[in-house]
Amino acid sequence: MCGIVGYIGHRDAYPILIKGLKRLEYRGYDSAGIALFDGSDIQLSKTKGKVSDLEERANAEISKNGSLGIGHTRWATHGVPNDINSHPHYSSSGDLVIIHNGIIENYDSIKKELINRGYTFKSDTDTEVLVNLIEDVKKNEGVKLGKAVQIALNQVIGAYAIAVFDKSKPDEIVVARLGSPLAIGIGEDEFFIASDATPFIEYTNKTIYLEDEEMAIVRIGKKVKIRKIHDDSLVDPYIQELQLNLEQIEKGGYDHFMLKEIYEQPDAIVDTYRGRLLVDEGIIRMAGVDDNIEKFLNANRIIIVACGTSWHAGLVAEYIFEEFARIPVEVEYASEFRYRNPVINEKDVVIAISQSGETADTLAAIKLAKENGAFVFGVCNVVGSSIARETDAGAYTHAGPEIGVASTKAFTTQITVLSLIALTLAKAKGKLSKSDYHLYLNELELIPKKVLKALTANEHIIKISETYKDASNFLYLGRGFNFPVALEGALKLKEISYIHAEGYPAAEMKHGPIALIDEQMPVVVIATKKGHYEKVVSNIQEIKSRHGKIIAVVTEGDIMVSELADHVIEVPETVEAFTPLLTTIPLQLLSYHIAVMRNCNVDQPRNLAKSVTVE
Ligand code: F6R
Repeated sequence: MCGIVGYIGHRDAYPILIKGLKRLEYRGYDSAGIALFDGSDIQLSKTKGKVSDLEERANAEISKNGSLGIGHTRWATHGVPNDINSHPHYSSSGDLVIIHNGIIENYDSIKKELINRGYTFKSDTDTEVLVNLIEDVKKNEGVKLGKAVQIALNQVIGAYAIAVFDKSKPDEIVVARLGSPLAIGIGEDEFFIASDATPFIEYTNKTIYLEDEEMAIVRIGKKVKIRKIHDDSLVDPYIQELQLNLEQIEKGGYDHFMLKEIYEQPDAIVDTYRGRLLVDEGIIRMAGVDDNIEKFLNANRIIIVACGTSWHAGLVAEYIFEEFARIPVEVEYASEFRYRNPVINEKDVVIAISQSGETADTLAAIKLAKENGAFVFGVCNVVGSSIARETDAGAYTHAGPEIGVASTKAFTTQITVLSLIALTLAKAKGKLSKSDYHLYLNELELIPKKVLKALTANEHIIKISETYKDASNFLYLGRGFNFPVALEGALKLKEISYIHAEGYPAAEMKHGPIALIDEQMPVVVIATKKGHYEKVVSNIQEIKSRHGKIIAVVTEGDIMVSELADHVIEVPETVEAFTPLLTTIPLQLLSYHIAVMRNCNVDQPRNLAKSVTVE
């Protein structure tokens, strides 16, 4: 969490940094700050609130000169969100300025030590401790900034992406990373620094992604020099050419990124299977899987690790893998997996799913799995992300940038990739008949058109949202492949509208949640044909007889549920395994419209961040 930006070059840094911070606001938005250096004076402005609040404040209090600067948008870890805890932070002398994304775990003991040596602190942050530690090292060891940063970082435990500059060095910024992402954009006599490449995409597509335990000195007129923090060895910079373009990261006429991303799903799914799903040839081609097919086929089981929405995609995948390929699958919260001493070995294949590719818990789970000899396969959206680099092999979802904090197209494209993998393995293991295999290939190819059709329910969903926007609780029920969709629907609603919602397997209702049902309780039931349809109909009857309000997601043309439910939302028919790709669409729209009607900040819900780089 937290977004960091930096610029050094020949342009005014301020507008670049502000625009960059706005693009990174998805990473945290409880406070923001900026520091500019014109070669002699540092101007610093920071505030609790959003980047727009920072702009107002900066307009009033600084002159905004300087072609070197750093900026920060914060998701608080140490210290409440307020002006003082906002970044950037000065060192005690006022000579060094730092921004930081991450957590310094041993900050308390370092702080005590520094206080003993006469340092004073203004904020409650671990970051201010780090900048003073750097200053202390610089003074005591008589070294330059880069060396001081390196020595200081060797004393800290935790995670960081930092950018720091020194008043006595007007031509350089020092950056370092461990566990939090950091990209360096390389222009003509100018450099950009950011948590991801979006802040500088209109200036350059040449990017270096720092690896863990690397630091770089970014100096005007010089090539970027990268070193390993721990052993001081030099690293050859790997400069990537990015494919990202500006249009992809703008709203394109939609009111919110989330709505844009919901509507992008038909295209995103096509992008996901393009070049992989070759229906005419009757094959699936996925290099990451094909090149490692023996690993998958010899595996005793597949363990899926992920968090949040990606974990829900993993649950859908469990059903799909077991149904198609008959391989046992376990789905684990990465945060639990990493700390519970799991039994895992070289006969396991671990699939890590992550939109951002930066989720700290998922990264830690991957490292643990690798240490135990498992083969680790990544399913990520962000190209070049930490998880994409850390895994043994993988497949990108190619969903394009997802900026709304609530995940939408990431979910459906993850399921698409995982379906392709499951079908590949099913074929290799001979677990599907030829005709079934071809049926699934054909059906998957048709999904984008069917998603488009599902989206036409939007106006109808707006009306339903009007009716239930003031509800305090929601229940979501589904069975089989659609149980994870119920979980995902509930997560979407609670995270953006702040309405309490729970997802349950429909049959579990009678073991507890049924006690909650009364005339105030809207219950969203996924009741598509196939997949225990009659049993779900019985569950609907149980809700109805307790006066619950039923919003049912049904297959086009359904009659039975339509007679029972208060509202029905139709989705096109498909094979049962792929229904989640359709049933999730109305649930995304329902949560979106309810959140808009409740005046919630849909793209930046409170307390959340898009990329959770702290554990
Ligand atoms: C929910 C949401 C989060 C993420 C979770 C994992 O809408 O966005 O639950 O799914 O933080 O993030 P990634 O997929 O980036 O690892």
